[in-house]
Amino acid sequence: MSPTYRIAPSILSADFARLGEEVRSVIAAGADWIHFDVMDNHYVPNLTFGPMVCQALKPHAVTPAGQAVPIDVHLMIEPVDALAAAFADAGADYISFHPDASRHVHRSIQALRAKGVRPGLVFNPAEPLDVLDWVIEDIDLILIMSVNPGFGGQSFIDMALRKIEAVRRRIDACGKDIRLEVDGGIKQDNIRRVADAGADTFVAGSAIFGKPDYQSVIGAMRAQLA
Ligand code: DX5
Ligand code: ZN
Repeated sequence: MSPTYRIAPSILSADFARLGEEVRSVIAAGADWIHFDVMDNHYVPNLTFGPMVCQALKPHAVTPAGQAVPIDVHLMIEPVDALAAAFADAGADYISFHPDASRHVHRSIQALRAKGVRPGLVFNPAEPLDVLDWVIEDIDLILIMSVNPGFGGQSFIDMALRKIEAVRRRIDACGKDIRLEVDGGIKQDNIRRVADAGADTFVAGSAIFGKPDYQSVIGAMRAQLA
């Protein structure tokens, strides 16, 4: 059975002066999730937005018919726990964090679950997957970075394909419904290769935002996945 693919535009590349409008229009153009790149200028060399922006955007994360669209928060922050709880209160649906940014990964996952959000782990290009040996059953999302986090518009790191294949094997072996998301350098011309490696959820920032017609870009990506 072919997986249900999800396209998650990253608002990192959206027009920050019109974020609510951008969220509405990219959803109307076919986006499945809204990817929310949170950076603290500590864990990564950039600073973006906090829980208050998530709260402000939550009412805009809806389809034209008014159906809520998941907000997929990617925390590139250290420490993790306090702000993760604030994002849960601000309406995040998925919250993923980097295991190397938390002193107690299992406890951070439990705290997210207790707040009623779907927890995920994010792996940088050189980050080993070992922690999944002990917590894969506790998470709903695994996010593989195909760039070094901090900025949009970077090139896809091909080595990530091997890592995606390895994670797909782990997910299939554990038999749990866990989304395999990839973030960084995803374009119309490589999304098929990333899907063939085993991904089912695709973050795309600069490939979508800044383009004249969101519908045609998302449609072209979906056509590659068909
Ligand atoms: C980390 C960010 C970026 C962004 C995707 O730097 O998470 O990867 O979402 O940016 P693009 O799609 O422009 O590479
Ligand atoms: Zn991200």
